[in-house]
Amino acid sequence: MARQGDSVAAALLAAGYDSTRRSPVSGAARGPYCMMGVCFECLVKIDGRPNRQGCMTNVAEGMRIETQDGAAMPRQEE
Ligand code: FES
Repeated sequence: MARQGDSVAAALLAAGYDSTRRSPVSGAARGPYCMMGVCFECLVKIDGRPNRQGCMTNVAEGMRIETQDGAAMPRQEE
């Protein structure tokens, strides 16, 4: 559940998820930090697309959000 206008990162934090990805270098858990598009610690997969900044994306009905492990190659646009 999320409130209309919440970012994906805010909704995840409110739901108790403090880690949204794992570092590609150390494997350490990482999570949203700046909440303004600067640190890139909030990267998640949204609707199958990796490397999405959760803090810069508003939640939407039916959105599928997944954690991201390590570096993800961008998917080719169809
Ligand atoms: S939390 Fe820093 S870019 Fe999203």
